[in-house]
Amino acid sequence: MTEANLAPAAKAPARLQAVRGMNDVLPDEAALWERFEGAVRRVLDLYGYRNVRAPVVEPTPLFVRAIGAATDVVEKEMYTFEDKLSGESLTLRPEATAGIVRAAIEHNLCYERGQRVWLTGPMFRHERPQKGRYRQFHQVDVEALGFPGPDVDAEQMVLLARLWRELGLADGIRLTINSIGDPAERRAHRAALIAYFERHEDALDADARRRLHANPLRILDSKNEAMREVIDGAPKLLDRLGPASRAHFDGLTALLDEAGLRFEVDPRLVRGLDYYNRTVFEFVTDRLGAQGTVAGGGRYDGLFEQLGGRPTPACGFAIGVERMVLMLKDAGRDAGRAPLAYVVHAGAAAAPLARRVAEMLRDAGHAVVLNAAGGSFKSQMKRADASGARFALVIGDDEAARGVVGVKPLREGGDQLALAAGELAPWLAAHARAGGG
Ligand code: HAM
Repeated sequence: MTEANLAPAAKAPARLQAVRGMNDVLPDEAALWERFEGAVRRVLDLYGYRNVRAPVVEPTPLFVRAIGAATDVVEKEMYTFEDKLSGESLTLRPEATAGIVRAAIEHNLCYERGQRVWLTGPMFRHERPQKGRYRQFHQVDVEALGFPGPDVDAEQMVLLARLWRELGLADGIRLTINSIGDPAERRAHRAALIAYFERHEDALDADARRRLHANPLRILDSKNEAMREVIDGAPKLLDRLGPASRAHFDGLTALLDEAGLRFEVDPRLVRGLDYYNRTVFEFVTDRLGAQGTVAGGGRYDGLFEQLGGRPTPACGFAIGVERMVLMLKDAGRDAGRAPLAYVVHAGAAAAPLARRVAEMLRDAGHAVVLNAAGGSFKSQMKRADASGARFALVIGDDEAARGVVGVKPLREGGDQLALAAGELAPWLAAHARAGGG
């Protein structure tokens, strides 16, 4: 033992805290996560998407090449470190698409046919934390690999609309779409933008003039009201698409109309990652303040080749799980995961019967919490109530001697009754149905 260890315990050790922007999810909230994840699994299943898992850590060049060296994510937000043994530069994934495409190429996943896959897990971006924006956050990422579209593009939006309905959030979320064309169309548009802003240079502020030749697209995002008019008059890529991109976009809007899905076309919608072409889309809500995009995605037909694979057209999106959970919480959605019964017991002979009864009910598929904290009947009944259970099952030495269990309804009133242990499961099954629990 060192001297420090022997010193009188003057000060309690400092408490450790979670890393800023990285959150714990405690049981009450986790129930909402599970509700969300359950709905996601059901809906993805309906459309034939299959689950995949991929590492949280990938080689840094994967993200630089896929997302783009000049994007905010790669320039400022990645958690990058050197592997102590190999010296290799590694990065905590800031998003999932790059890793999924890497895996698909590595394992020749799309060799024979297209693949619909999805993944969920933590992503990491070093952003300034605020409501709805964290440094460790979670996505449900969905990718259709090997489909030229636009039918899969539309199908993914229809799938998401179904998910919002399933969660009871459909009226709070709207769809915005755009086409950003193919690389050659974007180059031509960029040249047209520069020419246009050069003609209107007098109307530009200093910031815009500085960006004019380096990044004219950024001028379109300016919040300067004085430039509103000149920005509104700038050439739009959507009006200058080549015939193939145009046909793709018209095909998409026709399919959305056919599905009865409402959408807005926003010619200014661009996304923060460089791999997109043609279709881009976002589902947005007004209920979350500044961080209102709950899901975003689009087509990335060039990414496989960019990462050394064979040409493979693809389309996908990701949902921000924290943002969905915030919406569910705001909407007062109860996760509804309380146990059906809470077993209250006191006395040496009662305990084995309590354990047997709890296991018997679990055999029948009922969620049961067995009191494990001792205490008087009164304090145990308080715990039973706080658990949200519909019924308290009461077992004392007297019940144990008679082989019966007291059943006390906790939510709907009514007297306590005594049932033989063997009658409990069918009785609870009948009453769980009747009460909708
Ligand atoms: P993204 O737009 O960067 O796209 O992220 C998708 C969603 O993740 C956002 O709409 C938002 O809900 C959530 N999100 C992003 N950053 C944060 C953060 N710091 N805190 C909380 N939530 C956040 C992608 O990541 C693409 N990989 C989507 C995709 C898949 N495109 C094609 N396939």
